[in-house]
Order: sequence, then structure tokens, then C-alpha cells
Amino acid sequence: MCGIIGYTGSENAEEILINGLHSLEYRGYDSAGVSVSTPDGIKTVKCEGRVSLLEEKLSLFGNLLGNCGIGHTRWATHGEPSERNAHPHNSESLTLVHNGIIENNGELKASLIELGYIFKSDTDTECLAHLLDSFYRKDNDPVSAIIKTVSCLKGSFAFGVIFKDHPDNIYALRKDNPLIVAEGEKGYFLASDVPALSAYAKKVCRVGENEIVCLSSDSCRFYDLQGKEFGGIFEDYDSNGFSASKDGYDYFMLKEMYEQPEAIRRAVGHRLNINGLPDFRVDNIPDSFFENIDSVSIVGCGSASHAGLVGKSIMEKIAKVPVSVNIASEYRYEPPVSYGNTLTVCISQSGETADTLAALRCSKANGSVTLGIVNVVGSTIASECDYVIYTNAGPEIAVATTKGYMTQVAVLAVIAAKISLNKNTVSETYVKEFCHELLYKIPNAVNSVLSRMDEMDLISERIKDCEYLFFIGRGSDNCAAPECSLKLKEISYIHSEAYAAGELKHGTLSLISDGVPVFALAADMKLFEKTASNIREVKSRGGYVVLACNEKIENTEAYADAVFMLPDVDPLLSPMVTVTFAQCVAYKTTLLRGYDVDHPRNLAKSVTVE
Ligand code: F6R
Repeated sequence: MCGIIGYTGSENAEEILINGLHSLEYRGYDSAGVSVSTPDGIKTVKCEGRVSLLEEKLSLFGNLLGNCGIGHTRWATHGEPSERNAHPHNSESLTLVHNGIIENNGELKASLIELGYIFKSDTDTECLAHLLDSFYRKDNDPVSAIIKTVSCLKGSFAFGVIFKDHPDNIYALRKDNPLIVAEGEKGYFLASDVPALSAYAKKVCRVGENEIVCLSSDSCRFYDLQGKEFGGIFEDYDSNGFSASKDGYDYFMLKEMYEQPEAIRRAVGHRLNINGLPDFRVDNIPDSFFENIDSVSIVGCGSASHAGLVGKSIMEKIAKVPVSVNIASEYRYEPPVSYGNTLTVCISQSGETADTLAALRCSKANGSVTLGIVNVVGSTIASECDYVIYTNAGPEIAVATTKGYMTQVAVLAVIAAKISLNKNTVSETYVKEFCHELLYKIPNAVNSVLSRMDEMDLISERIKDCEYLFFIGRGSDNCAAPECSLKLKEISYIHSEAYAAGELKHGTLSLISDGVPVFALAADMKLFEKTASNIREVKSRGGYVVLACNEKIENTEAYADAVFMLPDVDPLLSPMVTVTFAQCVAYKTTLLRGYDVDHPRNLAKSVTVE
């Protein structure tokens, strides 16, 4: 949610800032801006819209020459997307970029207006800029001004600031929002995440909660909230071969979809021992951990909670433990009733989602043991969970998650297998075969669906102008349906809903009329006969049925207007294959409708506000 970048060194700052902002656009893209310390003072250029527009504006009105600067790409929380509300925001003595929310912005603003400050934007950030200025002007000490400012703030935030009196330094702080500093060959960098700096970073340091950093061209100093200096811990940066570029694909989403088979193999392969049985010692989780679990509470948002639905289905079936799936934003109001030793599993690709973090803290306060399933190494959720299993999916840039979701399901399946093994709820042979299928057959099946991308053309052409559609399924197909539906609606903007196939007739069937598309998911052969009845109900009301079904089902044309055959896999794992099909349909349909696949409107990747 909002991307922050900063650079100070011997190179041209503007170019580095713009490059960084392009990589950070997944965090928000409704407006962008940069401030650079030039020989004529700090200059700020910003505009509504994407970073490419900012780039054009800079080249049209004159590039900013200087070696120190900060930049920002915004996802609006306070005030509409506009140039006026774009960051950086300036006050008398400084320029500032910010990510997060200042919750007490209203009262602070009132007292700053009394002090004579004039507000030019609707943002909470401007309040932060003026507050910092008011303290700085008292003793001209950046660190002390930041400390005093932070003591007045409520909310979660990360910010970077350049003071006019210190034009070659960037000061920054974070609380509940990510911030990274990196050492490069030609200076120091600041960013909301590591991939934005992958072209420059040699060493990186994740700034800790409430730590103040001061970057100069040849040093990075750290201060605590008492103003005491301490040494920050930098680690060698290794991109692990992952690249944050499109690598020849038209879109990040497409690239990430194609990375799924390998990502699943990585996520699973790391957690199987030489006998092919689940083993989490590589994650420093002792074997005994899985023996004492009486119930599991899964927490996540959006697709992460959809992965949880698949996890629940597998765990309850093979490990026989009761599992609840909780939407993180509701967790505080409706916490699950705990039953015996409850393990709370927090799922988050980014590891920074504010609602999931809040739920995690709440569950810890209630005494639950917490396990994170996280992609971004060192992220806040990963650091705060008692144990963490990394999904090893590599950077996910497209706003709509694909490989993130897929690896979350894969890890949940291995956890389910491990609990089953330790609790003896199924035989060792069963666990071995299940894990074998997950490691080999599933990635191949995902690959096979991706290789038939062209088959989606007909389906996408048929649905591209419809107003709304439905995904229905039973059993594990019902677990896949919410993710299929979300994928399509979030990028194509076609309203879509997911229903248990048998539920349609309890009200929603009234929405089916001539030509309304219904995707009937039937990867699980055993349940097809019943789903077929629901398909008939839809067909007899004029609905257009797309059947995505197990390849072993025969005579499919009798049921549906269009058919996509899914490779036959274990029904428990079939959502991974079915969702791949839906990703392809969503991708193709979005292209046909002429929208930007990677940057759906109103959304951002890392949702760090509640
Ligand atoms: C949808 C999507 C979101 C995320 C959700 C949680 O494609 O990406 O629904 O799954 O915002 O994000 P993380 O996993 O980063 O906590």
C-alpha cells in the first residue's frame, strides 16, 4: 500500500527513483511524485496517474539534477487520487513521503492550523509533514524532531524525509509498515520492499519497528526512540535467482502463472525427507509440534483465506482435526472458539497485511501458538509468528495473486499430511502417495492447463461482455470456487460470485436468465452426478454453462455449452488445477476487455491499512 523509495549517493537520483517507483507500482498507482535536492534547493514534481506519466512530466518540464531524493507511488486513503494529494508533501523545512495511516490526523490538523499551518491537500501525510516541521524548527535536530513527532502519532506508518538544511541525507522511520535500507556500490537506498532495489543492493537491512535511520552517501546510522545511536544489521543481498522483471512476458501475472509448477515443487520439495514424508525441520519446527494440535484456526485475507478453505478441507479429511477459516479483518470481533491446543495459522503472501497482522497479535494475546505461511522473508508477520514456513514463491508483483495462492495451498497440504502422519489418522503409505502427487502430478497438471491457454479464447470471447456470472461446485470444487471467482472479478471487473452448487436454487437461481454464464466446476468425479442436476437447473433457465471438469467424465457436451477438461488428480488437491484454469480465463478475458492485467483499478498488492 503506497511505495516509498529514496536514494543518496554519487549517481543521478531521479533515474534511480523512477526505476524504483516502477517496481513499487504494485503497491499503489493512482499518483506519483519525487523530490530531489538540486543545486537550487529541493524540487518536487508529482502528478495524478501512473509512474510513466510522472516520467513524461519530468522530461517535458526538465529533469531534476541531484544526487539525493525521495519518491512515492500512492494508493489513496485520505483524499482522492490527484496531483494535490500526491506525495511528496512539503512543509517549510522539509519534504516527506509516507505510507500508512495517521489515525489521529483530524485532531493534529486542528492544532497545526492553530499554529498557522495552511493545508494544501486532503491527506493525513501533510499533517505529518507540518508536525515534523513544527518540532524541527524548535531545535533544528532531525532525530529529535522525528522522536517528538512519533510520540504524537496514532496509527501505522513508514516515512522518508529530506530536511532542507540536510539536503544530502534521508531520514526515515517505520511502525507497522515495511521499510528497507540497502547499501549499494554508489550510495544508500530506502524502499518499501527489497525487489525495488534488486538492481542496486549489495547489502540490505530491514528497518525495525520505531527505528530511525539516517542515510548519507557513505553511511547509514540507526537511532532508537531515546535518540541513542546503535548499529543496524545488514545482510548480503541475494536475489536467489528471482527476478523482479517480466522476463519477456507481457504481464507479471502471466509470468507468475507460468512460474507456478516450479514454485509448487519448491514449496513442497523442501519439506519432504528422503522417504518422501513431510518434515519441517528445515523450518526449525520440531516433529513434536504437530502432535499436540487439537484444532486449527486459519487466518488470512482475500486469496490467502481462500487458500485456507482448501487447507481446511484437506486437514479435516485426512488429519481429522477441526479447522476454522477466519477472515482476518473480522477476527477481533468474532474470534474462533478455541478447542484444546489451538494452532493459529496466519497466511500472507506479503507478510505485511495489516488485518492479518492484527489478527495474529490478537491470537497471540489469547495464548495461541502461531504459525505463519508467508512468502516475503523477514516480513512483519513472518517475524512475529512463533514459527514460520516460507512459501519460497519468489517475488510476486502482479496485484492479483497466482503463485502466492498456489504455494500457500501446497504448504497447507504438506502440513495436513504431517499432522495426519503424527496423529496416525491415515497410513504412512497414504501420506507418501499424497505427497508424491503434490510434488509431481500437481505441478504437471498445472503446467498442462497453462499449455492449453488458447482453449480459453472461446470462453473469454463468450463471457467478455456479460454483466455478471457465477462459479459453482461441490466439495473441493466448492473450495476452489471463491478463488476462481475473485480472480476473474478483480482483474476483468465482471461481477462474479461463487456458490456451492446445491445452494443456487435457494435464491440465486432467480438471477439466471438467457445467456447468464455459469462456470460449473467438477474436478471431483464422485460428485459430478449431483452437480449435473444443478447444471440442468441452470440450463433450463437459459444459462450459458462452462463446464470445467475431470477429463474422465464422459459425454460432457450433453451438459454444457463449453467444456474444459481438467487433468485427473486427487480431488483434495484439485483446487490447484481448477484455479489455474480460472486464472487463465481471467487473464484472457481481461485482455479482451482492454484492461491492465497487472494493475486492477482501486487495488494494491500489500494492504498495510486496516
Ligand atoms: C487477490 C489478492 C488478495 C490478497 C490479500 C492478502 O488476488 O492478492 O486478495 O490475497 O490481500 O494478501 P497477503 O497474502 O499479502 O496477506
